Amino acid sequence: MAEKPVDSLSESEAEAELKRLAEEIAEHDRRYHTEDAPVITDAEYDALARRNLAIEERFPALVREDSPSLRVGAAPAEGFTKVRHAVPMLSLAKAYTDDDVTDFIERGRRFFDRDKELDIAFTAEPKIDGLSASLRYENGVFVQGATRGNGAVGEDITANLKTIADIPAKLKGSGWPETIEIRGEVYMTYAEFEALKQRSAAVGGQDYVNPRNTAAGSLRQKDPSVTASRNLKFFAYAWGYTTADPAPTQYDSVQKFAEWGFKISPLMVRAKSAEELIAHYHRIEEQRSALGYDIDGVVYKVDQLELQRRWGFVTGEPRWAIAHKFPAEQAMTTVQKIDIQVGRTGTLAPVARLAPVTVGGVVVENVTLHNEDYIKGLDSTGQPIRDGIDVRIGDTVVIQRAGDVIPQIVSVVIDKRPADAVPYEFPHTCPICGSPATREINEKTGNEDS
Ligand code: IVH
Repeated sequence: MAEKPVDSLSESEAEAELKRLAEEIAEHDRRYHTEDAPVITDAEYDALARRNLAIEERFPALVREDSPSLRVGAAPAEGFTKVRHAVPMLSLAKAYTDDDVTDFIERGRRFFDRDKELDIAFTAEPKIDGLSASLRYENGVFVQGATRGNGAVGEDITANLKTIADIPAKLKGSGWPETIEIRGEVYMTYAEFEALKQRSAAVGGQDYVNPRNTAAGSLRQKDPSVTASRNLKFFAYAWGYTTADPAPTQYDSVQKFAEWGFKISPLMVRAKSAEELIAHYHRIEEQRSALGYDIDGVVYKVDQLELQRRWGFVTGEPRWAIAHKFPAEQAMTTVQKIDIQVGRTGTLAPVARLAPVTVGGVVVENVTLHNEDYIKGLDSTGQPIRDGIDVRIGDTVVIQRAGDVIPQIVSVVIDKRPADAVPYEFPHTCPICGSPATREINEKTGNEDS
């Protein structure tokens, strides 16, 4: 059975999938540890664990108490110890249009309507496209730093974070809380990314895809001197557990972070209306290409901490904040051929080979076609996608990087379809072993699985 891509799971599918993965991984753990008789390879086990984590990252509110990712203490295969965040690291609701932003502000005003005197303010700042990290300071000293992980449990990468010049080993100034977890984004500048690529090319080393992935890889090095050589940067924009509020407002708290020695975004402002926030979004958008690092939107937050607390949270996201995303970057290219890859469980995974095209600074040459239905223009429930247009060899397609990372086909340009393009014939035998490929029937739905 082909697995549905994490990006296209609905919330209820994700919930069912996390349950299945928790049970399946627990069973493999038991076979491995208790019976010493594993039935899957380490790579297959890792794939299950990674899928579990990817779903949890997309749906932090669905993380189960018995989740395999929450087994604290056990150092994972890669060797970092797990850290439970004293306050979970949340994700943000998203806005795609000006109307979504106006709705957000209106929801806030309605929520606080009882309090007519109230004067809500908001902050607006770039959404940095890096990796979030939580830095614990005790009595002003950096004692532990962790990745976000699934939001509840991350990995202890203290030694690597200590090499980042923007992260002070000791807080400057005074007035910091006895204990505070400073949160922000680790990122890599384009200049640093290009320099690293050149250094690597000079010695025939590996290629690097984009600054974000490279920053992620740089943070997960076993040897901190490698991390140090990558010259990563850090912006502080939030906090987790703290023994005292840094200041009464979001804006002033972040200004305190600057006094304590952190870099903060110079593009953070405080505003009162949706119009002002949207105007700032467009100012940031105009400067985007000149910043020298990737951002993927603008984050708005209620300024007064007291109001943040009153408005509260919903399923792993604060109600009082929203990320206004920039439109996804798209590009047009052609499908040169369709290959079938055989997955680890024998599933046939079709891949479109494309004429190389740059989307958001990354060259895209392959895109998954998921399964036979997807090629035909149908989703897993039989509903049309891409206006129900199938994908054929020779087609011109519009490519977008979902979440700015995984490329996908958003549409087929039917006007450009060559006259001799024919519907793709999905193979009915396995290209490796020659055995007939069948579609499995899902016991629960009675439908054919994809
Ligand atoms: S605030 C409680 N501010 O976006 C809110 N997040 O989708 C916590 N991010 O995991 C996040 N820039 O990695 C916030 N200026 C910013 C941000 C930002 C980037 C990332 C962060 C977080 C994700 C949420």
